[in-house]
Amino acid sequence: MSKLRSFIEELPKCELHVHIEGTLEPKMKLQLAKRNKVELPYKNEKAVRDAYEFDDLSSFLTVYYEGMSVLLTEQDFFDLTYAYLKKAHSQNVLYTEMFFDPQAHTARGVSFDTVIRGIRRAQMQAEISFGIRSQLIMCFLRDWSAEFAMSTLLQSIPYKEWIIGVGLDSDERNNPPIKFVEVFKRAREEGYFLTMHCDVDQKDSVNNIWQTVKDIGVDRIDHGVNSLEDMKLCEEIKEQSLTLTVCPISNSFVSDGSKSEAILSMLENGMRVTVNSDDPAYFPGYMTENLICVQKDVQLGKRELVQLAENAFEGTWLPRSTKDRFIEDLKNYVTKY
Ligand code: HPA
Ligand code: ZN
Repeated sequence: MSKLRSFIEELPKCELHVHIEGTLEPKMKLQLAKRNKVELPYKNEKAVRDAYEFDDLSSFLTVYYEGMSVLLTEQDFFDLTYAYLKKAHSQNVLYTEMFFDPQAHTARGVSFDTVIRGIRRAQMQAEISFGIRSQLIMCFLRDWSAEFAMSTLLQSIPYKEWIIGVGLDSDERNNPPIKFVEVFKRAREEGYFLTMHCDVDQKDSVNNIWQTVKDIGVDRIDHGVNSLEDMKLCEEIKEQSLTLTVCPISNSFVSDGSKSEAILSMLENGMRVTVNSDDPAYFPGYMTENLICVQKDVQLGKRELVQLAENAFEGTWLPRSTKDRFIEDLKNYVTKY
């Protein structure tokens, strides 16, 4: 394993499913609380972590939204994003498309402008400092109304150059994709790429994935593990060349396991599956740890690990020529290793 471990550590990587707010580590949470004079009921990092009690999506989301109360200024969003990009770079992530949840901030009085300017400045600074490239995906919260999502979409238009696509996250229960059909139609007209969370083991998982691929017409699927329950659905996903962004350590917290076997089945079935971290400060593990988790669970070899990395670069929303350059870097790494 130790040889494979260093192969994984040094592998050129691409991350397509990470929520920037989910990278808020306990240490930074405490620092920002102090700086912003926000009262938290925890004395130290261990106490913060000990309060992370979740075993499904909705109990995780409660903790996740509570944690955001310390994010108030442009500098806070800069610090959060810069720390993630620095960490990702240390694991050889060359490129990432990151989610942010503007409504979770505007709903508590932090302006859209404050949020996106802080994130954007960190993206530019991290590219200068470390060479890591990144883009931003704006997620709508599916447990809020379609009207709020639409007004957030309209609010984003002046910042369109800074946002590559839109997504849908938060609690899937009784919030099917179709609820947002008009919002996503408008987002497409505005030139955004489209993705949606199809979380693991939800009440209507298979139905919701069908809606996502047929009624919404997405460019990518976040999670989507339950597609394996319906072979026709798998064929449709392959037919549309859709990338699936699976998050093994996250899965192990909110469902009955990492779903590594599903990742292997998708690889074997020729589906464009990728491995990602989701909310690494809450489901401990960044890209390297997530790849190691799957490798250990189902004994992946180098060939499969490289396929996962290639799938991610292929699944980005970058121009063809840029994808090819990243894939070339990956191939060079494999040849030299
Ligand atoms: N699913 C839904 N909502 C989320 C997630 C997730 O994995 N992470 C942060 N918000
Ligand atoms: Zn997610």
